[in-house]
Amino acid sequence: MDSMTFVLFGATGDLAKRKIYPALYNLYVDGKIPASFSVIGLGRRELSDAQFQSNVDQSLTDFSRRLSDDTAQREQFVNAFRYCSLNNAHPEDYKKLLDLVTAREEELNIPQNRLFYLSVAPEFFDVIALNINESGLGDTTGWKRLIIEKPFGHDLESARELNTNLSKAFEEDEIFRIDHYLGKPMVQNLEALKFANPLMQGIWNNKHIANVQITASETVGVEDRAGYYDTSGAIRDMIQNHMLQMLMMTAMSEPKQVTAKDIRASKRKVIEALRPLDEKSIQTDIIRGQYSAGEMKGTQVPGYTSEPGIGPDSHNDTFVAARLWIDDEQWKGVPFYIRTGKRMHEKSTRIVVQFKDAANNPYAANQEEIVPNLLVINIGPDEGVSLQLNSKNPFNDGKIGTINMNFSASQKDVPEAYERLIFDALRGDSTFFAHWNEVELSWQWVQPVLEAFEANRVTLHHYPAGSNGPEASDNLVAENGFTWWLDE
Ligand code: BG6
Repeated sequence: MDSMTFVLFGATGDLAKRKIYPALYNLYVDGKIPASFSVIGLGRRELSDAQFQSNVDQSLTDFSRRLSDDTAQREQFVNAFRYCSLNNAHPEDYKKLLDLVTAREEELNIPQNRLFYLSVAPEFFDVIALNINESGLGDTTGWKRLIIEKPFGHDLESARELNTNLSKAFEEDEIFRIDHYLGKPMVQNLEALKFANPLMQGIWNNKHIANVQITASETVGVEDRAGYYDTSGAIRDMIQNHMLQMLMMTAMSEPKQVTAKDIRASKRKVIEALRPLDEKSIQTDIIRGQYSAGEMKGTQVPGYTSEPGIGPDSHNDTFVAARLWIDDEQWKGVPFYIRTGKRMHEKSTRIVVQFKDAANNPYAANQEEIVPNLLVINIGPDEGVSLQLNSKNPFNDGKIGTINMNFSASQKDVPEAYERLIFDALRGDSTFFAHWNEVELSWQWVQPVLEAFEANRVTLHHYPAGSNGPEASDNLVAENGFTWWLDE
């Protein structure tokens, strides 16, 4: 990998502390980033290099998934960090930054490869990109790249505007849009599961699959993010990005090659084939919910409208379920269900693929209980894959029973999403980043729902905290003769 400078906006923020520094450190320990690399942290407040380095060191103690015994190595890592105070909107601060970046490049004798990571509120994306461009920071003799993280806009129009502004400073192939779900190992594993196994490859279509269910349920409520969440809701916070990304990864057909270009082309075909919603289908295919007071693991918790910072009349969605159709030959007639919500019974992200029943089932006549074959992909917090099959049970007079073939991985050994994504961005691999086309088409699909929610044209169902969401979401699946799998 090339030596480079990692320029981090928002260096005193929460994400930097919890995710970015530990990710860089783990990459460093694994020898995945060159020993001569430079990090320049930026923030509004004044900090000395020594204070900044000590904060970085502390974040490793607090948040790194592992700590090496090699203290000299840890010291070396922390010594690569410098701090520069900067006001995002002040062009003169960027001149100061350019001087520091160049001085370090010369000191370390490294090429002008610069990665700009914007770990700041999205309203600053435009102004920072503009200033990077105008200050000359972006005129490098090496490469330059930009990492940003959702939200990419608030709706279709603002997303387009943001993209126009970013493209004045960076080419599309220089922009790495993080959707941290794409960094999750089991999401990345979907392509291998589907395309490296003839067993799966042959049945990944409407001839054999009855329905697909993608769930991301959370036990946390709005936490201390009322200001953001109450204007975002589950539809913008999870559906427009993470859920649609998982859907694309699940439904995409075989790419020509396992390259960023071909995988993105396959994903794009899925989102392009997604049946657009109209006034009628929004009423029948989208379920909007909000949690009310309830019991979570023996503790009574307040309803959404009683949370600090949330108004008593808020109609914000903390739960959304949807039925989607992909209008192409592969998926014609197969419903894809997605659902996500806060304050649900369990924290669990998983994809369940339910296969069709055998066409002629000779066991049916014997009144044996045959259950559908299921492929369950657990994305988090536990990672694994399981396949449910029917099999004779030798301990039960050879009657048919269910067996599960399981693989599960322990979290601690697996590199975190940020580790993988930062590593990929540093080596210029954009496979698991959201391309602008995907972002735009996702907003396009979601846009009529945003408008219908805003005008309150969709019933807001209340569900008690600690439950599996509103009954209406069960009915959505039941209408096609199915149930949500693995609900307790
Ligand atoms: C974030 C959302 O993108 O994803 C949060 O803004 C949500 O509201 C989080 O809690 C869930 O991520 P994970 O990795 O814990 O499933």
